[in-house]
Amino acid sequence: MLIPRPLFVSVYPLNSERRCCDIIMNHDPWSTETAAAIIAQEQHRDGALLPILHALQAAFGCVPEPAIPMVAAALNLSRAEVHGVVTFYHDFRREPAGRHVLKLCRAEACQAAGGEALAARAKAKLGMAIGETTERVTFEPVYCLGLCATAPAAMLDGRVVGRLDEARLDALLLEAQR
Ligand code: FES
Repeated sequence: MLIPRPLFVSVYPLNSERRCCDIIMNHDPWSTETAAAIIAQEQHRDGALLPILHALQAAFGCVPEPAIPMVAAALNLSRAEVHGVVTFYHDFRREPAGRHVLKLCRAEACQAAGGEALAARAKAKLGMAIGETTERVTFEPVYCLGLCATAPAAMLDGRVVGRLDEARLDALLLEAQR
């Protein structure tokens, strides 16, 4: 079975209609056969570990736990090494994300620009803590989006938004809950 290579997941929108994160939201249920085919397709590349993990995440919406020993065996690595890479890079997920992914910047410049009050507002309006996922939304922290000059900042489904205030945040929250 030929598995398409994963699309690079960028923080920037591909275009106004379709974003990278829209693409990775359509994922398959876990399948050992699909995982094996993905690994077989990528394992002979130089530095195959990251491409395999990206491909698994593109297929399943996360890097499923049962895939870790399969990847380790294919690349002659220990499970701990593969697990270490998956947990080191925050963009690799252990569980699939919700339909929308809202990331709120929790780093210094955004904190200094009122980020704490916005975080509290977002938590109250979404009814969830940062780090939680529902079917509809994954709400997570990010530590600098490169928009410090226009802090506070957030990112919804790969689209970055700066100069957040209550009104802008509320609009993002509405979008995230659709
Ligand atoms: S600190 Fe928030 S964008 Fe840099």
